[in-house]
Amino acid sequence: MEQYSIAIDGPAGSGKSSVSKQIAKILNIVYIDTGAMYRTVGLHCLRNHINLSNTEEVEKALQNIDMEIALSEGKQTIYLNGEDVTETIRTQQAGKAASDVAVIYAVREKLVQIQRELSKGHSVIMDGRDIGTNVLPHATIKIYLNASVEERTNRRCHELMLLGKEYNKKQIEYEIIQRDENDKNRKYNPLKKAEDAIEIDSSHMNIEQTVQTILNIIKQKINV
Ligand code: DC
Repeated sequence: MEQYSIAIDGPAGSGKSSVSKQIAKILNIVYIDTGAMYRTVGLHCLRNHINLSNTEEVEKALQNIDMEIALSEGKQTIYLNGEDVTETIRTQQAGKAASDVAVIYAVREKLVQIQRELSKGHSVIMDGRDIGTNVLPHATIKIYLNASVEERTNRRCHELMLLGKEYNKKQIEYEIIQRDENDKNRKYNPLKKAEDAIEIDSSHMNIEQTVQTILNIIKQKINV
């Protein structure tokens, strides 16, 4: 089988990463989580008290970031200046900071270069916001995974409940709407469905059903 690439884009909470990880395992291909890279830049800026809306400050901070990514068995480990931050970046705060620094051209330029390099030499499934439109414009299969704000809010609340954390549903819903706005309306490579992407609404599907739907699309197109 020749090398192929699968691009999965969509808004926060649509299930992209859970679904992509499972598909990577089933097809035995590499999974690349691009959101983690923006989160790592966001985390570095938060730790160094950088004003996220000041482009020059963020650009300067970017020069002090050495990002290393290790890919193995459907799992991505990410290092920030030698420190494993794979788990540290999974907070709401780092997600918001990621979305803020992602509007800056220099940040996107640096990360997109890393993403394209990582995609070379093997079959991959890569998830993010601009994979089908910008990072891998010639991806073999492009999926735009969507879900309603209501459903994405419910999923996030459920996750927090399982973690035993307190939450305010209205606040979570507000944050999801804000993140969508930020990601869809930025100037450079905003979140949008690529013209040749297949859109899937996962609002009424669980992870297994979504995985199966995407696998069916993949199997129609390539012999895996
Ligand atoms: O997928 P995620 O929630 O981990 O992504 C965090 C933020 O990073 C997201 O709100 C916007 C930004 N991002 C991006 O601009 N482009 C990507 N390809 C991936 C993420």
